[in-house]
Amino acid sequence: MSNFNFDVITLFPKAFDLINNLGVITRALENDLINVKLHNLRKYGEGSYKQVDDKPYGGGSGMLLKPGPIYKAHESISKFPKSLTLLMTPQGKVMKQKDLRRWSSLDQLIIISGQYEGFDERVRYLADEEISLGDYVLTGGEIPAITIINGVTRLLPGALGDPNSLTDESHNGPFLEYPQYTRPPNFREMKVPEVLMSGNHKEIKLWREKQMLKRTQERRQNIV
Ligand SMILES: C[S@@+](CC[C@H](N)C(=O)[O-])C[C@H]1O[C@@H](n2cnc3c(N)ncnc32)[C@H](O)[C@@H]1O
Repeated sequence: MSNFNFDVITLFPKAFDLINNLGVITRALENDLINVKLHNLRKYGEGSYKQVDDKPYGGGSGMLLKPGPIYKAHESISKFPKSLTLLMTPQGKVMKQKDLRRWSSLDQLIIISGQYEGFDERVRYLADEEISLGDYVLTGGEIPAITIINGVTRLLPGALGDPNSLTDESHNGPFLEYPQYTRPPNFREMKVPEVLMSGNHKEIKLWREKQMLKRTQERRQNIV
């Protein structure tokens, strides 16, 4: 049995081919750390045309996903004891690292991915949480769903080669990460700060702490 189960309801399962070529995520799939099941909404479509969408009542542009196929797809999924259903919508709560951390202790995330003009309002009742990637509109919920699979998987024990990468990085605490450099020491007149090459660990730590604060103040005024 996998440690973590993602079940995604989508009209475009092929979009998830990406996770088979995504480094850490692909390795987690191969090592059975995660299991990703794609539930093609079309299979639950209505009538001989397997209809999944229809025009909005009251008029307006585009098509909406009907509630019936989404409810049927959701009911077909075996639920694990610690499971949440997330609905992808630009109207949802904007996802933060702390959400990924909270979800990473579950057994299962069921992710409902919208398309077209979105979905019938009654689909919202299936969701434990409505989640947005940010305040902008994409064509579908597939990229948000892949983002969640990616962000949760890298937090699972055993996913990353060095679990310390998780403690030092941006958004783990209140500060963004400090600037990082690798060789060469001088690249096109851009020099690595001397202190990082000094071998003085106390000074390096101090420099990094100052840089974290500076960087966060410059880029995230809202949290410092
Ligand atoms: C074109 S959008 C629909 C937008 C909807 N008419 C509205 O104004 O709120 C189609 C689908 O893409 C997904 N989507 C688009 N932007 C998103 C975002 N920022 N975060 C999460 N999902 C998004 C949702 O699943 C949504 O149902």
